[in-house]
Amino acid sequence: MPIPRRGRGTLLMAAVTGAVVTATIAVTGTANAATTLGASAAQTGRYFGAAIAAGRLGDSTYTRILNTEFNSVTPENEMKWDATEPSQGRFTYTNGDRILNQGLSNGSKVRGHALLWHNQEPGWAQSMSGTALRNAAINHVTQVATHYRGKIYAWDVVNEAFADGSSGGRRDSNLQRTGNDWIEAAFRAARAADPAAKLCYNDYNTDGVNAKSTGVYNMVRDFKSRGVPIDCVGFQSHLGTGIPGDYQANLQRFAALGVDVQITELDVAQGGNQANIYATVTRACLAVSRCTGITVWGIRDSDSWRTGENPLLFDNSGNKKAAYTSVLNALNAGGTTNPTTPPVTTPPVTTPPVTTPPVTTPPPSGAGCTATVSLNTWTGGYVATVRVTAGATALNGWTVTVPLPSGDVVTGAWSSTNSATTGNVAFRNVDYNGQVAAGASTEFGFQANGAGPSATPVCQAG
Ligand code: XIL
Repeated sequence: MPIPRRGRGTLLMAAVTGAVVTATIAVTGTANAATTLGASAAQTGRYFGAAIAAGRLGDSTYTRILNTEFNSVTPENEMKWDATEPSQGRFTYTNGDRILNQGLSNGSKVRGHALLWHNQEPGWAQSMSGTALRNAAINHVTQVATHYRGKIYAWDVVNEAFADGSSGGRRDSNLQRTGNDWIEAAFRAARAADPAAKLCYNDYNTDGVNAKSTGVYNMVRDFKSRGVPIDCVGFQSHLGTGIPGDYQANLQRFAALGVDVQITELDVAQGGNQANIYATVTRACLAVSRCTGITVWGIRDSDSWRTGENPLLFDNSGNKKAAYTSVLNALNAGGTTNPTTPPVTTPPVTTPPVTTPPVTTPPPSGAGCTATVSLNTWTGGYVATVRVTAGATALNGWTVTVPLPSGDVVTGAWSSTNSATTGNVAFRNVDYNGQVAAGASTEFGFQANGAGPSATPVCQAG
């Protein structure tokens, strides 16, 4: 595929698109040029990160480059399902924590990767299906996101769930076969467990406008319209010797949906165009104000999963390649300023009301709180998301009693503990979501077999 050259023309176009004008930065020439990838990206409010491996942290060349050049890290494998829950219910965070601490001690952002993915599922999950798998998956999201609560800049909540090719639909997997709503259930559980993390959907072959990226686009648009919590979309950008001509336009159309976009796993096959493709990707991100940063999938060529393709910015000895210089120059040429508020200051739990019509009406006033339930159902089961809203007085603890019809059985709950699994089930707050300011809301959820409640839930303060 020919490599489109995006030189001055692209930047000029970005500069004339209205609101961007004032935000377009004026870091030109060499006077203000930063000399590392992270510092250069930071000039426009962005990060420049690398995927790193716990097993390489003892390599001094590796850690020197890591600590000097990058201000974001992603665990290459250490936070995946097989790594964090090798047997069901037994969680191991040793290597994930090493990556986390490496990042935090260096002042870097940490991208969490990935809560649910059909690859690198632990063996025990591979052999599961249906409700048991759904429960296990949601429990996994809840446990891992809770362990890292408050520490992760952005989570890849779901990775690679769309099919390649022209269908634009979902990829078949045991997760997908638990019901089409598995992705939104995962996002709701992640939000409840770590309200400060940005929640991303991440995929590959979505780097231009095509059937697959349009499938993702339609899902994100649907999620935004229904209040499913999603904050960002990751574009892996494992590129060969070409790049789609509409790479930037594709980022822009997602950003226009009201989500951040990030380049999450960039690597580019070595060839005559490697440096140009890297620069093109960098300029595209800089041109899109909601593109918050770029991550390369490894540091040196010898660290890459693409053995023999030499797709990274540093050679096997740790020397900077031409591709490095082209990225640094592109970063220093500037772009739109990324206005993203630091994630710790965003107030997520109480943000956009769920727009799905509640299946129930609020209880009588005077109870101190109200609760509404929205359901995602499939044949024989459902996930219920319950929104608890404080009345005129702040809550210091709450209990929501959901009357379940005969035959419904709760199989799991998150961000709450349940008194029973059938009948009038009382869900009580857990330690981190009992305090709700007057008029504010929090959410919890549960999964059950059956048809779903139709009667009114009762919320009680205290
Ligand atoms: C890769 C790792 O780099 C390898 O070490 C591992 O053996 C397989 O996974 N898309 C993703 C990443 O989202 O998690 C993958 O990482 C690369 C493709």
